[in-house]
Amino acid sequence: MTLMDIRSARSVAKKGSTRKGASTADGERFNEFTDMIDTLNKGSVNRSFDAYGDIDWDAPEMKIIENDERWILPAVDPIGKHPWYQSQTKERQIEIGMWRQANVAKVGLEFEAILIRGMIQYVMQLPNGAPEFRYGMHESKEECNHIMMFQELVNRMGVDVPGGPRWFKIVSPLVPLASTPLPLTFFTGILAGEEPIDHLQKSILRSADQLHPMFANVMAVHVAEEARHISYAHEFIKYHLKEMGKAKKFMSSLMFPIVMRVLCDVIVKPPKSFRKEFDVPKEVMDEIFWDSEDGRALLTEVFADVRMLANDSGLMNPVSRKLWRALKIDGKVSRYRSQPHEEMAA
Ligand SMILES: [Fe+2]
Ligand SMILES: [Fe+2]
Repeated sequence: MTLMDIRSARSVAKKGSTRKGASTADGERFNEFTDMIDTLNKGSVNRSFDAYGDIDWDAPEMKIIENDERWILPAVDPIGKHPWYQSQTKERQIEIGMWRQANVAKVGLEFEAILIRGMIQYVMQLPNGAPEFRYGMHESKEECNHIMMFQELVNRMGVDVPGGPRWFKIVSPLVPLASTPLPLTFFTGILAGEEPIDHLQKSILRSADQLHPMFANVMAVHVAEEARHISYAHEFIKYHLKEMGKAKKFMSSLMFPIVMRVLCDVIVKPPKSFRKEFDVPKEVMDEIFWDSEDGRALLTEVFADVRMLANDSGLMNPVSRKLWRALKIDGKVSRYRSQPHEEMAA
């Protein structure tokens, strides 16, 4: 939202007028958007967590012990589901499981660092009184806690994981700079990081009966707060798309699935060093990400909510639909956010 947009929309919202350049419909839309932000602000005050105050890291049950089978990857993790992984010794499965979980946390915190830097830059150019300012700061504060929490988890697990691939580390200082000239692209990228990690964490929490409590606590806190962040990203994209002209909107509809697909790999697919570290055959990696039937299914499952957003906001058109299909991320559309996959399939 540009400075002028906010002033214009706010003035219309206040007066309910049809002043030149802005309509009552703009004012109503702005009011709806700010109401949603108010709800999220209240949520941030009433339900937020502290990385150290709310997780008892030193409790006896949190100890990291050797050969702990709770680190074995469940079948909802694409690596955990593959026969190659299941054929490894228990010790090896634990070792791979710990590396994998720690690395997802590390990539997650790298994404959150990008979000914070871009979000701060974005809100700092808003005028006094802009409703997005306060929410942006709430979300940044929550992401600071997530970064501390994820890094503490990695440190305590004692696995020296690299996080995202090299190219991602090189571009990550530049990505936040896009948040002011290209806020829609920036928030699409944020959503592309948040959706897959949230999907993976929720699936693990739902399906695994025995998780290490340190890991389970960190994931539970993250899933609880991420729901708010994802809601905001969805509403932000919808709201700002409506301001766009046809050509820009069409370009966004093409950019949208590409950003989703590229960043999903960064989050879900381990970097090259994983293959070297555990001698994973290349064919196995290719099957898991995403040549096998299970791989394909997971890839489309992750984006069910995002397809709903694309449908609702007019980002799905005959051309972009082809692109979704070519990128192998087309499929069923959620009826509501976080609709369980089994319910959708039924
Ligand atoms: Fe987060
Ligand atoms: Fe987040």
